Amino acid sequence: MYNSDRLKRIDDETFSLRISKDKDFRILQLTDLHLGFGMISRKKDKLALEAVTSIINRTKPDFIVLTGDSIFPFFPKSGTLNNRKQAGKLIKFMDEFHIPYSLVFGNHDCEMGSTCNKEELADIYEKAKYSIFTKGRKELTGVGNFLINLVDDNGNILLPMVMLDSNMYGDGGWFFSGFDCIHDDQVEWCMGRLDELKQGTPDIRAMAFFHMPPREFKEAYEKMKLGDKSVIYQHGSIAEKNEHFGISKFDGTFFRRAVENGVIKWIFCGHDHMNTLSLIYQGIQMTYGMSIDYLGYKDIKKSYIQRGGTLITRKPCGDVEIKMVPLGSVVSTRVSGVKG
Ligand SMILES: [Fe+2]
Ligand SMILES: [Fe+2]
Repeated sequence: MYNSDRLKRIDDETFSLRISKDKDFRILQLTDLHLGFGMISRKKDKLALEAVTSIINRTKPDFIVLTGDSIFPFFPKSGTLNNRKQAGKLIKFMDEFHIPYSLVFGNHDCEMGSTCNKEELADIYEKAKYSIFTKGRKELTGVGNFLINLVDDNGNILLPMVMLDSNMYGDGGWFFSGFDCIHDDQVEWCMGRLDELKQGTPDIRAMAFFHMPPREFKEAYEKMKLGDKSVIYQHGSIAEKNEHFGISKFDGTFFRRAVENGVIKWIFCGHDHMNTLSLIYQGIQMTYGMSIDYLGYKDIKKSYIQRGGTLITRKPCGDVEIKMVPLGSVVSTRVSGVKG
């Protein structure tokens, strides 16, 4: 755990991190590193680690969030199922930057047949030198549902960040059963926590970080393409084949409840490596982080328009600026049907 007088563990599911109110606070979202750390992934891992290093050095963030699929215990691609070793190597690598970081689970970190389950991975992540991570409430679905509240010198909350496990595959099955979503008990918990914050600070605004995009991201994109002016394009593109969104087949309630609750204004996800779109829908800015993956998707090594990070800057006035940080010099920002 990050050892600093700036960090306080409030309870089993809440941290506060003190920041300077008068300075920009820079959060770097990195997603889908897909590190194999196996015999057959060495070359691609090296490229991924170099990409992450380059983006961190360039952006010099105050805090880093990895939004899932950080490690990839998938034998045909990595040559290993040992996600214990992968997680160990990941935290060793991340700790070397001396920048506090947090993470959420994706659908691949704990792939079927891998050495560790999520609880065991969480133990590893909790022990890392610069990580801010906890398993969260035991009775909730998923592992790693918790809050990191950015606070000022007096302990006033400036920006709550909600970390959520968007789970793996539906019906407890593997890949072919489709993707899961954030479950209702997690939604209930999250909205309850935000309601408490609202009582203290009625105009509080929060961010949520999780791996799988909500269904409403796709809905917003489709509306936007049809010219619906209520959806506001921000940046990026949908570059997955056939404009694919890896959404759940289940009707998750997270987005709808977040709109009703009104505190979450920004959602950051990953999962679809080629998608980098950011738009505002029903008062919430949804952003696909630029991804790192060299190993997961077939031939993705050769693609570059999607590769990079996403820099989220909280300004002293409370405004939030979200920018793509492409690894290369070319990035796709065109979305068909949208005038930019
Ligand atoms: Fe992924
Ligand atoms: Fe994923």
